[in-house]
Amino acid sequence: MLVTGGAGFIGSHLCDYLLNIGHDVICLDNLFSGSKDNVRHLLGNPYFEFSRHDIIQPFFAEIDQIYHLASPASPVHYQHNPIKTIKTNVMGTINMLGLARRVKARIVLASTSEVYGNPRMHPQTESYWGNVNPIGLRSCYEEGKRVSETLMMDYHRQNHVDIKIIRIFNTYGPRMAINDGRVISNFVVQALNGEDLTVYGDGTQTRSFCYISDLIEGIVRMAEADDFIGPVNLGNPAEITIVELADKIIALTKSRSHIVFEPLPSDDPEQRCPDITIAKKVLKWEPTVSLEAGLKKTIQYFGQRLRGKNGRARS
Ligand SMILES: NC(=O)c1ccc[n+]([C@@H]2O[C@H](COP(=O)([O-])OP(=O)(O)OC[C@H]3O[C@@H](n4cnc5c(N)ncnc54)[C@H](O)[C@@H]3O)[C@@H](O)[C@H]2O)c1
Repeated sequence: MLVTGGAGFIGSHLCDYLLNIGHDVICLDNLFSGSKDNVRHLLGNPYFEFSRHDIIQPFFAEIDQIYHLASPASPVHYQHNPIKTIKTNVMGTINMLGLARRVKARIVLASTSEVYGNPRMHPQTESYWGNVNPIGLRSCYEEGKRVSETLMMDYHRQNHVDIKIIRIFNTYGPRMAINDGRVISNFVVQALNGEDLTVYGDGTQTRSFCYISDLIEGIVRMAEADDFIGPVNLGNPAEITIVELADKIIALTKSRSHIVFEPLPSDDPEQRCPDITIAKKVLKWEPTVSLEAGLKKTIQYFGQRLRGKNGRARS
C-alpha cells in the first residue's frame, strides 16, 4: 500500500490502521504540513517505509493500492504557497494516476467537501456541483481538488484506472497540527492556554465534525468496496454552530477563557453538512463517536503536546 501524505494528520492514522490489518505500507510525504513525529512510532516496523518525497515529482514503486492524501488541507497551509498547492493537486495527482495506471493499482483520492464551495444546497449530496469562486483565496485548494477529481474520472474513462473518490468533511482528532488554524485545534489550544477563543463572524455559521477513527473506517470501507467509484461523502452530519462548539470546548477544558469575535475571512462557507445517505447504503458506514467523546481525546492529545510530553513534536 502506498499512502501519500502519510505523515499528516489523517494519513498517519491510516498508516496505523493498514499496518494493524496486516498490510505493508509505504508512506510518501514531503513533510510540508505533516511531521515525522506522527509516524515516529512506526519507523522501526519492518512493514513500514517512510520516503521523503514531493509528489510533484514522479514516484516509482510496485504497489497494489494507493491512498492519495498528499495536499495541504488547512487554509493556513494551502494559502501559504497557493501555486504549490495547485501543483500538488494537479501534477501530484497526475503522477499518482500515472503510477496507478502502470502498476494496475487501485487509487483512492482524498477529496474534500470544499469542492462544494459556499453551497447553495443543504445538506450537500454528491450530485451537487458546488458553488466555487474560481479566483478567490481558497480557489487553489477548492479548484485544485476539483481538478484532481476530474483527472481521476478521466484516467478511469480513458485508461480504465481503478479509482475511488472520497469527499472528506471536517475531521478532527489527535495529531492535528497545533498551528493549522482549523477551528477545533484553534479553540482547544486557546482554551488550554487560558486565552480567549477567536470566533470569526457572529458564530452562527454551522459546521459538522467527524472524529478521525470514524473517518478512517469509512476510507478503508470505500477502498475495499467493489463496483463503486464514488464520489462519496464521508463526514458527520451532526451540525453545531461555532459558538456552541466554543462553549463546549471551554466547558470540557474547564478553561476560564472567553469568546471574542473577529471579521469572517473571505469565501468562508456559512454552512457545511454532509448528506451521507450513499455512504450508509453502499458502505454500511456512519460515524459512531460523539463530539464530546472525540473532543475529550483531542483535548488530552493537545494537553500533552502543550506540556511538551510528546518528545520533539513541534507546534
Ligand atoms: N482534515 C480534514 O478535515 C480534511 C477535510 C477534507 C479533506 N481532507 C483531505 O485529506 C487529506 C489529508 O489531510 P490532513 O488533514 O491529514 O492534512 P495534513 O496537512 O495533516 O496532511 C497532508 C499531508 O500531505 C503532505 N504533502 C503536502 N503536499 C505534498 C507534496 N507535494 N508531496 C508530498 N506530500 C505532501 C503534507 O506534508 C502532510 O503530511 C488532504 O488531501 C486533504 O485535502 C482533509
